[in-house]
Amino acid sequence: MKLNIAVLPGDGIGPEVTNQAVKALKAIASEFNHDFKFTTADVGAIAIDKHNDPLPEETLDLCKSTDAILFGAIGHPKYDNDPSAKVRPEQGLLKLRKELGLYANIRPVKAYQTLLDKSPLKKHIIEGTDISIYRELTGGIYFGEKQLSEDGNVASDLCAYSKAEIERIAHLAFQAAQNRSHKVTLVDKANVLETSRLWRKVVTEIAKQYKDVKLDFLFVDNAAMQMILNPKQFDVILTENMFGDIISDEASVIGGSIGLLASASVGDKYAMFEPIHGSYPQAKGKGIANPIASILSAAMLLEHFGLYNEAELVNLAVEKSLKLNISTPDINAKYDNVTTGKVGEFIEDFIYNPKDTNMN
Ligand code: IPM
Ligand code: MN
Repeated sequence: MKLNIAVLPGDGIGPEVTNQAVKALKAIASEFNHDFKFTTADVGAIAIDKHNDPLPEETLDLCKSTDAILFGAIGHPKYDNDPSAKVRPEQGLLKLRKELGLYANIRPVKAYQTLLDKSPLKKHIIEGTDISIYRELTGGIYFGEKQLSEDGNVASDLCAYSKAEIERIAHLAFQAAQNRSHKVTLVDKANVLETSRLWRKVVTEIAKQYKDVKLDFLFVDNAAMQMILNPKQFDVILTENMFGDIISDEASVIGGSIGLLASASVGDKYAMFEPIHGSYPQAKGKGIANPIASILSAAMLLEHFGLYNEAELVNLAVEKSLKLNISTPDINAKYDNVTTGKVGEFIEDFIYNPKDTNMN
């Protein structure tokens, strides 16, 4: 298969983890005779430094002309504590999601057998957890009208959703559940928010088309608690933009590290693959960032194009690295100098030469 892939490494640890994902994809291309072409472009704080724009025109054009986008991370501390900054790295990512119509962000969460004792949660609670979070990505409070009064004392962010915005992601969530454990949990705050009541109404209606899927509802505060108390009860979680952002960071604790969580952001035309973690500026250049989230995002890219054997091999390589404790310090207590690059090289070598695929 021929694929043009835009690589947007971004800020902080973005470039170093994305490099490892590209290595894995190149190994896959070579082993399975695919033709993957990679083109790199700037986004985020680095793009502000170079072009005074977190999403330069060339970057957006490139993304629109490629088959898929591999995204690193964005953010820089100099903007975090400067509420008056008018141009911010995050705007680059949000604009990209909006312009490309990437309305569904899919975030798989699972407890790896080999990492059960790395999570701060008890083993018997997390063992067997397998959740797929469907987070709406181009609507809600992230994109509603923002206001700051002239005297700077009152601010507001509008949270708005239309029926059509809810329907399109709900269909994807139900279809996913049909291929999983046949359950969708809608996470909302319908006891307080009008938008949540619309979500309930629309999703209940759509559920009628998916008779083999059970739909249930949880208020987001309760869902946050249930995620820690009994994560195994979840199959597909469907939720709006901000609740999905928060719940997915919380869910990453189950796997033992946020450095393991990948995601796919899809729309009707484009698809982007990105780790759920941020730019982790404190770790930049130290070789301690976990590249697995980025590498698993590359596996989701392969799956998106129907390259299931290829994706499985990447997943297997990742599992093998975890099993052998070839891992960065976030999950490797002993930390025997396993760097970002070493994890990437192990996974690359395994793809070229998957001699021992027996995981037991
Ligand atoms: C994420 C990130 C982004 C978000 C930020 C960087 C804008 O936290 O992808 O989860 O809030 O969506
Ligand atoms: Mn987030």
